[in-house]
Amino acid sequence: MSTENKRHLVSFFDPAFEPVSIEHGELLSEVLDAKNSPLLFGCRTGICGTCVIEVEGELPEPDEEEIELLEVYAPDNPKARLACQIELTDAIRVRPLNFD
Ligand code: FES
Repeated sequence: MSTENKRHLVSFFDPAFEPVSIEHGELLSEVLDAKNSPLLFGCRTGICGTCVIEVEGELPEPDEEEIELLEVYAPDNPKARLACQIELTDAIRVRPLNFD
């Protein structure tokens, strides 16, 4: 089945935010911002760790660099990902991981 023009919903654990429909393969960081989601982005290149989130749902596996950063910021959370590195391929539900 073609994935062309397919869209997926990104929903949030925080009910204050409506789900956002995102095109297949689009980067979360290109669509989500502080107005339409509880997620925060910093560098958007996978370096700063600002965008660490917990994800429910299927995603492509993280690359080596993302795995290295997740080992620093969320070593005990197998559901942790860097939001800025996610290309959407299915519906997911997310929440930011806070470090305070
Ligand atoms: S925004 Fe910096 S690692 Fe994602």
